[in-house]
Amino acid sequence: MAGRVKAVRGDITQLEVDAVVNAVNSALRPGGGVDGAIRRAAGWKMNAALMKIGGCPTGEAVATEGFALPARWAIHTAGPVWEGGEKGEAELLARCYRNSLARAAELGARRVAFPAISTGVYGFPPGEAAEIAVREATAALEGGADFDEILLVAFGEENFAVLSAALSAAVGGGEADDAG
Ligand code: APR
Repeated sequence: MAGRVKAVRGDITQLEVDAVVNAVNSALRPGGGVDGAIRRAAGWKMNAALMKIGGCPTGEAVATEGFALPARWAIHTAGPVWEGGEKGEAELLARCYRNSLARAAELGARRVAFPAISTGVYGFPPGEAAEIAVREATAALEGGADFDEILLVAFGEENFAVLSAALSAAVGGGEADDAG
């Protein structure tokens, strides 16, 4: 496995990576949380680009430029709403990671950063979501996906602790970096 999976704490809009992943709704309508932060930092052209695309089914991912973000591209994925865990939420969340990484690979991104998709407004339990994120990122690299780094970004202390635990529990481990 050439690349590595890393946990970082901080604001995803500030990261100098090739692609940042955004957690959107399937209508691609402007939201709050990480989507609000990404659209604010990227500028109005991102809204326009997303309106033109028009939608993104749950579990799928679409790409735009990063516009005013430090990242060259943004990949927008619609996570599942948590409805108790019996509605296929885990598989849908896994597909968000797989499809986002597929878009990132198509663009030739070397470093990709993910927020904790679905763990805010959509209510997915952070521990289970972190396990899925670590598993999918690791599986992509082990399966030969050609990235230098997949960053899993936690916003706040508590999420960082959860993510770091999931990463150290995973076979092969990884790295946790508190970016401040
Ligand atoms: N950087 C990194 N992570 C962030 C940032 C940021 N600047 N801002 C928020 N987050 C984290 C939250 O702490 C949470 O852990 O992103 C995670 C995802 O939370 P949400 O943004 O609420 O996304 P989600 O749960 O997938 O809900 C999507 O929210 O904004 C609306 O339109 C969106 O309807 C959609 C829904």
